[in-house]
Amino acid sequence: MLYSFWRLLSLVSILHCVAALQCLPDQTETLKRFKNEFQFSSICSDDTNFLRGVVCDNTTGAVTFLELPGGCIRGTLRPNSSLFELSHLRYLNLSFNNFDSSLLSSAFGQLKNLEVLLLSSNGFAGQVPSSIRNLPKLTKLQLSHNKLTGNLAPLVQNLTNLSALDLSFNQFSGTIPSSLITMPFLSYLDLSDNQLTGSFEITNISSSKLETLQLGNNHFEAEIIDHISKLVSLQYLSLSSLNISHPIDLKIFYSLKSLSHLDLSGNSLTPTSMNSDIEFPKDMEVLLLSGCNISDFPRFLKPLKKLWYLDLSNNRIKGDVPDWLWSLPLLVSLDLHNNSFTGFRGSLDHVLANSSVQVLDIALNSFKGSFPNPPVSIIHLSAWNNSFTGEIPLSVCNRTALDILDLSYNNFTGSIPPCMGNFSIVNLWKNKLEGNIPDEFYSGSLTQTFDVGYNKLTGNLPRSLLNSSLLRFLSVDHNNINDSFPFWLKALKNLKVLTLRSNRFDGPISPPDEQGPLAFPKLEILEISHNRFTGTLPRNYFTN
Ligand SMILES: *[C@@H]1O[C@H](CO)[C@@H](O)[C@H](O)[C@H]1NC(C)=O
Ligand SMILES: *[C@@H]1O[C@H](CO)[C@@H](O)[C@H](O)[C@H]1NC(C)=O
Ligand SMILES: *[C@@H]1O[C@H](CO)[C@@H](O)[C@H](O)[C@H]1NC(C)=O
Ligand SMILES: *[C@@H]1O[C@H](CO)[C@@H](O)[C@H](O)[C@H]1NC(C)=O
Ligand SMILES: *[C@@H]1O[C@H](CO)[C@@H](O)[C@H](O)[C@H]1NC(C)=O
Ligand SMILES: *[C@@H]1O[C@H](CO)[C@@H](O)[C@H](O)[C@H]1NC(C)=O
Ligand SMILES: *[C@@H]1O[C@H](CO)[C@@H](O)[C@H](O)[C@H]1NC(C)=O
Ligand SMILES: *[C@@H]1O[C@H](CO)[C@@H](O)[C@H](O)[C@H]1NC(C)=O
Ligand SMILES: *[C@@H]1O[C@H](CO)[C@@H](O)[C@H](O)[C@H]1NC(C)=O
Ligand SMILES: *[C@@H]1O[C@H](CO)[C@@H](O)[C@H](O)[C@H]1NC(C)=O
Ligand SMILES: *[C@@H]1O[C@H](CO)[C@@H](O)[C@H](O)[C@H]1NC(C)=O
Ligand SMILES: *[C@@H]1O[C@H](CO)[C@@H](O)[C@H](O)[C@H]1NC(C)=O
Repeated sequence: MLYSFWRLLSLVSILHCVAALQCLPDQTETLKRFKNEFQFSSICSDDTNFLRGVVCDNTTGAVTFLELPGGCIRGTLRPNSSLFELSHLRYLNLSFNNFDSSLLSSAFGQLKNLEVLLLSSNGFAGQVPSSIRNLPKLTKLQLSHNKLTGNLAPLVQNLTNLSALDLSFNQFSGTIPSSLITMPFLSYLDLSDNQLTGSFEITNISSSKLETLQLGNNHFEAEIIDHISKLVSLQYLSLSSLNISHPIDLKIFYSLKSLSHLDLSGNSLTPTSMNSDIEFPKDMEVLLLSGCNISDFPRFLKPLKKLWYLDLSNNRIKGDVPDWLWSLPLLVSLDLHNNSFTGFRGSLDHVLANSSVQVLDIALNSFKGSFPNPPVSIIHLSAWNNSFTGEIPLSVCNRTALDILDLSYNNFTGSIPPCMGNFSIVNLWKNKLEGNIPDEFYSGSLTQTFDVGYNKLTGNLPRSLLNSSLLRFLSVDHNNINDSFPFWLKALKNLKVLTLRSNRFDGPISPPDEQGPLAFPKLEILEISHNRFTGTLPRNYFTN
């Protein structure tokens, strides 16, 4: 919704009154003209919200700080924009607005006092003007998520005070100027998701202050890894999908003793990397090795006592998950999905149960046999598409934080544990579960999604489902459930999907007169085929 002329006028007068307490009239006037250049969205209808982002200097009355709410304005930012008259600006944040593919105007070079310039996700296109060199006081420059092109050389000359530079998610090309890496104060550099090539050559690499370096999703040459390995101050390094010609040997990172976060996803690693006895940086906390063509479980992880996030998904790792993995004391999130694991080493009662893991994804593997007792602190458990057999362990009912349980596409037998109302998402699709669906959905049950399709369940649809007022998705298709049409489910105000297909439901599907009008308030999908229903489907099922 765009601002009407009258509302805009009133906003501007409020802006004037409030801002005038601190800002000189000519500054307020300039802000007013700047606002008039654009269309406004309803987000800006909250005047105090808009004004919160304007600060003037107490002594001079000039605007020094301007931060627009995201999604506020839309339109072209022209070189003659009033914005560029605010020459005392030290902080400018226009991120998350829509400048309709405007060029990044060379007029930014007039804002000589800028220390922080944030223009992320603004739709800017074209090259960065060379006038950006006129901003020697800049310490933070963020131009990520735009459509900027050209090479990086103009950016590095003269901006010697930069401490953080984020140019990620653009279309910059060419090589990385080595002077960028050695800028005297630069500690944060994000160039990921561009079209950069080549490598960089640095004579005095010890002068680099880089602590964070993100270069993923570019087209570099393999030599770049050798140079990166000399940036000894690095703590956070992200090199996903570099598309370099030969596999990376992990040993090269052993020199980076301060490293705590490493992302090599999407690069092939040499097989010998996994077996190496050389010490990996001990402070490693986050390690992402997804899609790295790994076939043996990485043993170098064992001494990493600070590791809390490990992603080994999309590899080719075979055999058992080693038992020592579960004793890494801080491990919280573990992703092993899409490998060829077949089992767990160690006693099934204890291996997982003793670990600190909260998010565990072992889907898309070849695990066989019984399912181990899940970790005590588990929140999100995903094990779909394996070959687990036996019963679902009752201990899931003892895991008070468990919220998402996905055991679909396995061969679980026996009955469904009686605590399904504890979880917001339950997916047990395509197993061999039998017996009744436990009638144990207590008042206040958290269930939003309950999918038990393609099993061998019998009995009624449990009436206690009515206690699950949050239920949105209920699927019991392809079972042997024997019941009449669940008119009573209309009391579930949030139900969107109801699938009863291929069961033994029978009786009329038209509501008996005494039931009153039947209308599921939010129903979008209703599948009832392959049952023994009679009667016609009333139109008013779908009135909403
Ligand atoms: C400017 O005003 C703010 C409060 O509005 C105050 O916190 C700050 O100290 C003042 N600065 C100067 C330099 O007077
Ligand atoms: C810049 O402004 C946007 C929109 O208001 C906000 O989401 C973002 O956090 C700001 N950036 C910084 C670094 O403060
Ligand atoms: C800015 O330039 C545009 C053309 O590029 C023109 O239409 C507009 O009137 C100018 N605005 C001001 C305030 O001069
Ligand atoms: C940029 O720095 C060079 C020296 O490295 C200097 O000659 C030039 O004048 C500077 N440009 C600006 C715009 O400050
Ligand atoms: C660079 O920053 C330092 C303080 O960190 C400051 O003294 C110096 O004036 C700045 N240089 C420029 C060109 O603004
Ligand atoms: C290399 O950089 C360091 C740190 O900035 C500096 O102390 C040293 O003098 C430089 N060495 C050379 C050969 O430039
Ligand atoms: C990887 O590089 C090759 C050339 O070495 C190129 O043909 C291919 O498109 C690149 N892949 C991606 C995903 O960029
Ligand atoms: C993956 O590793 C195998 C050897 O373990 C090798 O033959 C194959 O070329 C590698 N694939 C890629 C994409 O590097
Ligand atoms: C599984 O990982 C392989 C790489 O090892 C990848 O090619 C494949 O697309 C992944 N499959 C899924 C379903 O993610
Ligand atoms: C599990 O933890 C308990 C105490 O926390 C300990 O006694 C037991 O030995 C552990 N079991 C395994 C297999 O590590
Ligand atoms: C389940 O067991 C049957 C044999 O009883 C087998 O054919 C099928 O592949 C198994 N499914 C899974 C997901 O392991
Ligand atoms: C649940 O926990 C209690 C006490 O912590 C224990 O006595 C009981 O055996 C547990 N039940 C299951 C099924 O693990």
